[in-house]
Amino acid sequence: MRIVLLGAPGSGKGTHAQKLVAGHGIPQVSTGDLLRAELKSESALGLRAKTDMDAGRLVSDGLVLQIIERRLEKDDARNGFILDGFPRNRTQAEDLARLLAEIEKPLDAVLLLDIDMEILSKRLTGRRTCSVTGKVLNIHFSPQQDLDACIAAGGELLYRDDDNEETIVNRLDVYEEQTRPLIEFYRSAGLLRVVDAMGTVEEVAQRMQEALNS
Ligand code: AP5
Repeated sequence: MRIVLLGAPGSGKGTHAQKLVAGHGIPQVSTGDLLRAELKSESALGLRAKTDMDAGRLVSDGLVLQIIERRLEKDDARNGFILDGFPRNRTQAEDLARLLAEIEKPLDAVLLLDIDMEILSKRLTGRRTCSVTGKVLNIHFSPQQDLDACIAAGGELLYRDDDNEETIVNRLDVYEEQTRPLIEFYRSAGLLRVVDAMGTVEEVAQRMQEALNS
């Protein structure tokens, strides 16, 4: 299965990609995570991406395509993948279509996580990632036992640098201007399935599974 998760920052792409990985045995390919890993290792690519990421702007299409190509060549992506955060504009969507046509493995579906914009700020400012398990959590919405489990495992609840109010505003603007048009792009291609992303994580996960089965 080859799918794209499309949605605004904070709509739940990472959360549900992790669930789909567990359920389907295919990898999550998150350009945000790949870029943050490049940044952490202080690679030339990571350092080039840093200014844009800190400001909440899109990193250049060329850089992102480079990391996506490298990632999709790995063995674990042979039987499918969940693209999380890519593509994010028309150029990237066309690059992806070309790349997948070359290897004769077109997309099966694009799931849009549809959500009211007002709720996103709270989801993003409350987001924490467990340093031990990598699980995406939220100080406002996650069950206390999940937050406690991370600490009990010796982990820390990490805050993402770009989850500050100013950068969040920019990220949401970028989504509106550059990424939202992909909804029509994929609707026209007959690949779009809209999932209501309001409600608990479990409710949304069930809707996503139903959308994939439909
Ligand atoms: P990226 O890392 O992709 O961030 P994003 O798209 O802004 O998305 P997020 O990771 O913030 O949100 P999400 O939808 O995954 O939500 P999550 O599941 O965490 O990109 C970061 C930066 O990298 C970009 O700004 C850009 O600079 C660069 N970049 C990345 N890809 C690029 C590309 N293709 N081209 C160019 N540049 C690129 O959920 C959020 C919170 O809500 C969590 O705390 C979670 O626990 C909680 N939550 C989720 N679902 C629910 C629910 N149903 N109920 C209650 N809480 C929930």
